[in-house]
Amino acid sequence: MKGIILAGGAGSRLYPLTLVASKQLQPVFDKPMVYYPLTTLIEGGIREFCLISTPQDLPRFQQLLGDGRQWGLNIEYREQARPAGIAQAFTIADSFIGSDAVTLILGDNIFYGGDIFQRAFADFHGGAAIFGYHVNDPERYGVVEFDAQGQAISIEEKPKNPRSNYAVPGLYIFDNEVVAVARALKPSARGELEITDVNLEYMRRGQLRVFRLGRGFAWLDAGTSSSLHEASAYVQTIEKRAGIKIGCPEEAAFRRGFLSLNDLEALTARIPQCEYRDYLLEVAAEARRLQNPSAA
Ligand code: G1P
Repeated sequence: MKGIILAGGAGSRLYPLTLVASKQLQPVFDKPMVYYPLTTLIEGGIREFCLISTPQDLPRFQQLLGDGRQWGLNIEYREQARPAGIAQAFTIADSFIGSDAVTLILGDNIFYGGDIFQRAFADFHGGAAIFGYHVNDPERYGVVEFDAQGQAISIEEKPKNPRSNYAVPGLYIFDNEVVAVARALKPSARGELEITDVNLEYMRRGQLRVFRLGRGFAWLDAGTSSSLHEASAYVQTIEKRAGIKIGCPEEAAFRRGFLSLNDLEALTARIPQCEYRDYLLEVAAEARRLQNPSAA
């Protein structure tokens, strides 16, 4: 399974924050926003990434994430010249996708809790898999409607009168057919290739599975100044209470076995003195203790 991170868009709802740094580079508490979706996919076992952004912003992402080798990953980059819709990601990244299945995550979506995505990647055997999450303001999103048996029966993009409270979060899993499906799409009324139209095509083929994300799972988007602030407050609250970090790619890569303990220690040693470094030192020290309990 390959991973695409879409970090495009003008970020106009965050103006003036986005005048010099794109939305997905803004801080969510103690890390750049893009660390969170990247970490979500690393936790799901994905190692090969393609990050798509605007021509202006792409160099910044390259500066931040490099080729991914430091975290045991491979990260490629592609440009989206204009904001022509989420589904365009699949045609932009077709040479990266090759003949594999692919998951796409939006660079401003933050997920926390449980292992539902890990399981969805591991159990994926074709077609498409998306998710539904109960929200207060479904009209801002793609909205999925379920029948009494829990089958998804409709999906609408930003409907004025939503048929349910279930929004479709920005993490989608597709088989390799998605490239052809995206290529055949026509732009919507707002001039974009809509991810909802891709999902509808899979639904029409009887190949769409929609999993409901239950209570106890957090999905935040950070696209407006209020939601950005709320996301920061949420991350701070959990991190302080539990003494863990959300959205820490180094830790996730280590726990997935993409980095050895020696790699983690070497990489941590290169980080300047800061709270983030202290955290990784603690992660590494704990792993050493577990490896070698008698030395403690
Ligand atoms: C996009 C999708 C929408 C989805 C949302 C998730 O909306 O079009 O279906 O629910 O992402 O964040 P946009 O970010 O373009 O408003």
